Amino acid sequence: MTPAPSSGAGPELRQLLPKPGRIHAGELLASLNLAARAPVDRPYTIVNFVASADGRASFEGRSGGLSNPADREMFHGLREHVDAILVVTGTLRTERYGRLVRDPDRRRRRAGSGLRPEPLACIFSRSGDIPIDIPLFAQDGVPVVVFTPGRLDTSALAADVEVVRLDPGELTLTTMMRRLRSAYDIRSLLCEGGPTVFGALLQEDLVDELFLSIAPLLTGGGRAPGITNGPPLGELRELSLVWVLESDGALFLRYGRR
Ligand SMILES: NC(=O)c1ccc[n+]([C@@H]2O[C@H](COP(=O)([O-])OP(=O)(O)OC[C@H]3O[C@@H](n4cnc5c(N)ncnc54)[C@H](OP(=O)(O)O)[C@@H]3O)[C@@H](O)[C@H]2O)c1
Repeated sequence: MTPAPSSGAGPELRQLLPKPGRIHAGELLASLNLAARAPVDRPYTIVNFVASADGRASFEGRSGGLSNPADREMFHGLREHVDAILVVTGTLRTERYGRLVRDPDRRRRRAGSGLRPEPLACIFSRSGDIPIDIPLFAQDGVPVVVFTPGRLDTSALAADVEVVRLDPGELTLTTMMRRLRSAYDIRSLLCEGGPTVFGALLQEDLVDELFLSIAPLLTGGGRAPGITNGPPLGELRELSLVWVLESDGALFLRYGRR
């Protein structure tokens, strides 16, 4: 089923590529059809980040200052079109995640296009040190799956949390992806980070697309990460540019695999 476009929502974007024009993020994203591209053994996986013009993924410890209204529309619009959202402990902790889709119209559109009203929140943790005090776990019935080697006491949590215990020998993102596809029928997955898990996904060659917003802002020096962290790849990974959009000086790039 094709999702109804959320036309008119958010600022209008100037499309520079593939063909010049003006469009709303909702109209553009309505034709993504990510699930149809899923390989048999894992979800089709997209990653979304915002960076400053000097390449940092956060300022004063968080990403919010880098965002603008069009970026927020893109961020929530992407959430509208996926089965599940992967976010790991560093970002859960600093960004204090709550319910993933709050807007009733977005929930209705999701349901109308055959998706669950709320995407499955997917957490992968090697240490099992999950920040269960964040708002996400206090929301009634929010679906969450945690892949981790340890135990997690979920009895006091309002969210609907399932814990999948992985042996240390199978504690990889590839294992998690296979389980998401085979046991949860997750065909489209959006990774919202942070940089460490993006780096790890690249190491295991699990990323199909990157949605990157470049803010017209400079952070200066400091220790804030770029959009990837961890060990470098053995060789450069080539991308193909799918679209370029602009709003209020911010650029919105969509890259696929080459
Ligand atoms: N600009 C943006 O769009 C954006 C997006 C997201 C985050 N951020 C920013 O990024 C910062 C957080 O960055 P971060 O890199 O610390 O966050 P992160 O990637 O969210 O979390 C790092 C943690 O991920 C866990 N992890 C799960 N699988 C892993 C693997 N295969 N390899 C290594 N670690 C793995 C580790 O903890 P355990 O295994 O112990 O759980 C690790 O400490 C914050 O300032 C946040 O605001 C920016």
